[in-house]
Amino acid sequence: MLVPHPVNANTSTTVPLTPAFTSIRRTRRRYGETVIGYEWRGRFDNAELNRVHAEAFGHRPTDDDWWGQVNRHSLGWSCARLRGRLVGFVNVAWDGGVHAILLDPIVVPSLQRHGIGGSLVSQAVEHARSAGCEWLHVDFDDHLRAFYLQRCGFRATGAGLIRLR
Ligand SMILES: CC(C)(COP(=O)(O)OP(=O)(O)OC[C@H]1O[C@@H](n2cnc3c(N)ncnc32)[C@H](O)[C@@H]1OP(=O)(O)O)[C@@H](O)C(=O)NCCC(=O)NCCS
Repeated sequence: MLVPHPVNANTSTTVPLTPAFTSIRRTRRRYGETVIGYEWRGRFDNAELNRVHAEAFGHRPTDDDWWGQVNRHSLGWSCARLRGRLVGFVNVAWDGGVHAILLDPIVVPSLQRHGIGGSLVSQAVEHARSAGCEWLHVDFDDHLRAFYLQRCGFRATGAGLIRLR
């Protein structure tokens, strides 16, 4: 769901030109007996992210160049790891101004509903805010309303979408 373009959106120079690009922060969140590590703009291999993406969305693995894509186009991304293994990811695209867009929050099925997705989104919110963004947009299917609206703090709004191909 997309937040309407704010009338008073300030696209001026208050937005840092290189927001948080050098900010690599490691955070850790204890869950039960396991420790999940979260890293903003953390390194990953395309193969491991393609595997997690395929598992989370239930499709066959692809060979997308995620590393090239996020480095060219994203404000940032966050990786969640369990004992070194990539288990979750979120991507934050950016218009270069005050709008950021949350894309592809994913958690491997075996670890879903343990708070990892919510923590990844919290990190995305924190970094988009500290980069000077005013709005973080997301769209989602109805079955994820509780995740986005209750767990992650998004508010419902009107939005539109065109399937281009
Ligand atoms: C969406 C996704 C990233 C959420 O990650 P997660 O780690 O499972 O989420 P959390 O554990 O932080 O969820 C917190 C709360 O959000 C809600 N929630 C999360 N996933 C949900 C789902 N699939 N259906 C309904 N509610 C859900 C629940 O209220 C949950 O709390 P609860 O487990 O105590 O009931 C994960 O389910 C996923 O990878 N799904 C497949 C890929 C996908 O659809 N991504 C989103 C694209 S828009």
